Amino acid sequence: MSKLSLDRVLQSQGFGTRKYCRALIEDGDVVINGEVHDNYKTLVETDGLVLTVFDEEWTYREHVYIALYKPSNFECSRKPSHHPGVLTLLPEQFTWRDVQPVGRLDHDTTGLLLMSDDGPFIHAQSSPKRHIPKVYQATTQEHVTQTLVDQLLSGVQLHDEPAPLAAQSCVQRGDHQLEIVLEQGKYHQVKRMLAAAGNHCAALHRSQIGGLTLEALGLKEGEWCYLERAQLELLVPG
Ligand code: URA
Repeated sequence: MSKLSLDRVLQSQGFGTRKYCRALIEDGDVVINGEVHDNYKTLVETDGLVLTVFDEEWTYREHVYIALYKPSNFECSRKPSHHPGVLTLLPEQFTWRDVQPVGRLDHDTTGLLLMSDDGPFIHAQSSPKRHIPKVYQATTQEHVTQTLVDQLLSGVQLHDEPAPLAAQSCVQRGDHQLEIVLEQGKYHQVKRMLAAAGNHCAALHRSQIGGLTLEALGLKEGEWCYLERAQLELLVPG
């Protein structure tokens, strides 16, 4: 159980600066259990708290864990330069509470992207020691050959890497389609591995991280959802 003043609650949930949150409260825009609360000093229990702000319901969350079906032409970087950032696909509150992508997908890669404002979670998920498999569907420019599959499975040498990198699994899904599972998360890894093996990645999609799949989440391109405990447990290496 923990109690916080109402202005702090609103600020922690990303409604804006403390000053702005106080103004929201004093204007009567914040409702809890059907009752307007216009004193920002009111202490409220955060466990199970549901706020209504401007007629929209918000469940209090100490941290948020989000899955986004990233569309193409969005950047994961904090300061996007050529395309809009992925945060523009989420409610503004998440930018205020400093939600960030967990790792990165290239601007032209689609698929499952995790996002959170929980620093230790982001750090743990991004750690190379974690070995969380990530499943990618790659469309190749040249035909997929058995030699290509074998090379990706046995390991290819990338510039700036001390040792060859191998796919955990690699299955041909069509003339120009591969399903690749990687445990590492190196910069442009799939594209660089395909290039090092003499092909070229024409399109890339991530369908799964650990045991969490886009299909099970039921997300369509551009959609997002909160991840609850059971779904987060699927991200822990087995
Ligand atoms: N590998 C890549 O090359 N790009 C991505 O976006 C993800 C993995």
